[in-house]
Amino acid sequence: MRFQSIRGVKDILPGEIEAVQRLEQAARSVFESFGFSEIRIPIFEVTELFARGIGAATDIVEKEMYTFEDRDGKKITLRPEGTASVVRAYIEHQLNLKAPVTKLYYLGPMFRHERPQAGRFRQFYQIGVEALGTDRPVMDVEVLAMLTAVLNQVGVTAVQLEINSLGDAACRPPYRKTLKAYFKTHLAQLCEDCRRRHETNPMRIMDCKQEGCMAVTAKAPSPLDHLCGECMAHFQQVKDGLNRLKIPFIVNERLVRGLDYYTRTAFEVTTTKLGAQNAIAAGGRYDGLVEELGGPPTPSIGFAMGVERIASLMERIETPKPDVFFALLGEEAVRPMLPVIVRLRGEGVRVEMDYSGGGLKKQMGLADKLGARYTLIIGENELKSGKAILRNMADKSQTELSLSELTQLLPERLRKP
Ligand code: HAM
Repeated sequence: MRFQSIRGVKDILPGEIEAVQRLEQAARSVFESFGFSEIRIPIFEVTELFARGIGAATDIVEKEMYTFEDRDGKKITLRPEGTASVVRAYIEHQLNLKAPVTKLYYLGPMFRHERPQAGRFRQFYQIGVEALGTDRPVMDVEVLAMLTAVLNQVGVTAVQLEINSLGDAACRPPYRKTLKAYFKTHLAQLCEDCRRRHETNPMRIMDCKQEGCMAVTAKAPSPLDHLCGECMAHFQQVKDGLNRLKIPFIVNERLVRGLDYYTRTAFEVTTTKLGAQNAIAAGGRYDGLVEELGGPPTPSIGFAMGVERIASLMERIETPKPDVFFALLGEEAVRPMLPVIVRLRGEGVRVEMDYSGGGLKKQMGLADKLGARYTLIIGENELKSGKAILRNMADKSQTELSLSELTQLLPERLRKP
């Protein structure tokens, strides 16, 4: 019996993981410079948290969650996103009492039972941030500056930031009504899903990629024409702030989000290089969510980056190569050299060796294959003379190094270009 990973769930192998690691490092360092701290949230939560948080009439909750009963009969869901969990943790640990604004980031796998295709997986990784406790537009700008900085650091620059405002508790309900009335007059042209959404979640129709629906939404009322004065001023200040920081963006008034908690600023970073799955990061404000989940009124904003999608846009990064390959001939050489190797590794030197008991030729072949910078050859003669041969694998030059001083001489040699 041969096992395979589940459809839509993939391994990230050496050769692919390096870009992911670099993205994670860049994100951590940028986020921490903006004063964000890491939070580790659980992989699973009670189902109700996501149903309430993300919205019962969203695709995620209606058809994409991995939900099961555990052995106690409790309804559990593998997290489809991180925001609801961060808000749950914020309320549970009363983080609002510790600081006026709580700035958190997280990374890890998310799970959605979507139809797998290029760039869309059932287990995928996100790196996300949430800033809880302020509705000031400066935070919207900072969060977007932070996202831009991470993408710049990893060299993903041919992307577009699209922003929109979805209104708030005052202006969204009347807009929703207007939208519903508009779609009602065009029901025949909408796809089956959207005919249903028209009742439950009319804003989602704006996001449908079916041709008929797109023709209808092209002429649909825009949320921007229905913003209240406060939302309009807020959106203007966000745009002004982005301009001041010279962060390029376009306003996309068709941009709605697949999760219900968004208010005011909503955004996506898109690319033309990945086909249909063109969003590499997305987020927005969710000024009502903390209260909705039982906490104090806490206007908040955040985003999540799609790690696989961003990594696929990054230049391939090579797996690190050994600094030195120890070609040890026979157990007599392995025994005294093992402590030396361990010590060198402790100092950060990347040391490789042969584990199959091959002869010199085979070991040299392996050193070559691994791309080692140097090979250190130690056999019977070298043990006797107390001097090993250090071979530069690029120019094939050889020198001798005293065995008793290896731990000092070798790092010195490696520091030279
Ligand atoms: P989201 O738009 O659902 O937002 O996901 C954010 C990003 O995760 C997407 O832009 C995409 O790059 C990636 N992504 C989503 N689904 C998949 C998938 N099936 N396969 C691969 N990548 C995927 C959220 O999750 C919100 N929690 C973001 C947020 C944080 N809003 C406020 N704070």
